[in-house]
Amino acid sequence: MAEQAILSYLETHEEIADSGNFAAECGIDHAEIVNAIKSLHGFLYVESQDIKKETWVLTDEGKRYAAEGSPEVQLFLAVPAEGSIAKDELQKKFDPAIFKIGCSQAGKNKWVEMGRQVSRKVVQVEDKVKDLLLKIQKGQVIGQADINSLKARKLIVLQTWKGYSVRKGPSYAPQREKFATDLTRENLQSGDWETLKFKAYNFNAKGPPSECGHLHPLNKMKDCIKRIFRMMGFEEMATNRYVESSFWNFDALFQPQQHPARDSHDTFFLKTPSTTMQLPEDYVERVKQVHESGGYGSRGYNYEWKREEANKNLLRTHTTAISSRMLYKLAQDTKQNGFTPKKYFSIDRVFRNEAVDRTHLAEFHQIEGLICDRGLTLGHLIGVLEDFFKRLGMSNLRFKPAYNPYTEPSMEIFSYHEGFGKWVEIGNSGMFRPEMLQPMGFPEDVRVIAWGLSLERPTMILYGIDNIRDLFGHRVDLDLIKKSPLCLIGIK
Ligand code: PHE
Repeated sequence: MAEQAILSYLETHEEIADSGNFAAECGIDHAEIVNAIKSLHGFLYVESQDIKKETWVLTDEGKRYAAEGSPEVQLFLAVPAEGSIAKDELQKKFDPAIFKIGCSQAGKNKWVEMGRQVSRKVVQVEDKVKDLLLKIQKGQVIGQADINSLKARKLIVLQTWKGYSVRKGPSYAPQREKFATDLTRENLQSGDWETLKFKAYNFNAKGPPSECGHLHPLNKMKDCIKRIFRMMGFEEMATNRYVESSFWNFDALFQPQQHPARDSHDTFFLKTPSTTMQLPEDYVERVKQVHESGGYGSRGYNYEWKREEANKNLLRTHTTAISSRMLYKLAQDTKQNGFTPKKYFSIDRVFRNEAVDRTHLAEFHQIEGLICDRGLTLGHLIGVLEDFFKRLGMSNLRFKPAYNPYTEPSMEIFSYHEGFGKWVEIGNSGMFRPEMLQPMGFPEDVRVIAWGLSLERPTMILYGIDNIRDLFGHRVDLDLIKKSPLCLIGIK
């Protein structure tokens, strides 16, 4: 309707001088007229020029005085014509703000004598403020000095009004041409597709936000990493056991029983059931031996290994506990059927008794990969890591010698982070020690290269999240999950 009003008017008139007046004449809301102008302008039906008008309008306080009179006059009128009134008495008649302003303005105007008693100093006053406010309300022009004083008292403010003047544009027509938005079966049958004008595609238009479920960035990352592992020929290990025995979590990994990580400050131990039900006894015996006195070319740790320590249940501190179980199984299978090389991976939750901060949680997810084969070297490990991390979008790697009780040599993995402008640690790796592999029963020449990293770290880096607590835990930011990208470009 607004659109047709504009087009029809321009058919017989040179211009619409002021969209505001035009809207009022047509009885159409100005906002609607403005929208129609913008749209017609977009299709070159009209040309338009901005008009800006600045007008003074009353503030709420100004409106109130325009209706009820200024505070100073209200105050003056409340003072008796003859004699005086006690200030307390007078105050009771007003609300505190009006009383305060009234006193100060009436005093300034020398209308009243203020003391404990208040009396009039003049016979009659004029409510100039109210008169001026009413004039502004009616759209009349008032002097600059008056404007300034009303503005200073915050009774009026400047309002900018925006409208347009409108003329015919290069594509003007008295009626807007309708464009087809779809090519239909009817168009094809009737043949009018030959003459139809089609609306151009707007490739910049945004689709409506979809109200649907959203995958958590950690799950998206997990899927992506699983895909990478599978493409690299890895099999997934079953990780469905948060509760683990100290034996598989530590002892089988040649981690001595007095190691600080085995302290309750670092590890959550279970109260019930506090100990494990069963362990493979002959293997336990070989693990005890290797801790106490070594073997397989090792001197061992030379301490008294305690079964009670190994029996203690805990929340697994790393998924390497799963790797140790799987490798033990593989070694048993090797004894029966001969050795088959394997590539295994897992991604699941681990627990550490840690103080929670921006980058640490007491539970997080670990990604773990291992390859078990004859003749593997550190060179293979570096090569596999480079391949793996490149697929995750991290191509610039550096390795730093490190220490793990179960690997030798061990390497921390660093990647250069363009965004942070520095090298950040992204994982830990190494070759499992003979003290771990030999008691399991592997042939001597079988090597295992392995690495582990947190799932949270690359997720935070790739999704640009700087507080781990926004990502995971009870304070997780749902908005962040909804707005996180559906997929990340550059990951293969
Ligand atoms: N378990 C190590 C950790 O928790 C990671 C790791 C896995 C290191 C395998 C070497 C080999 O950080």
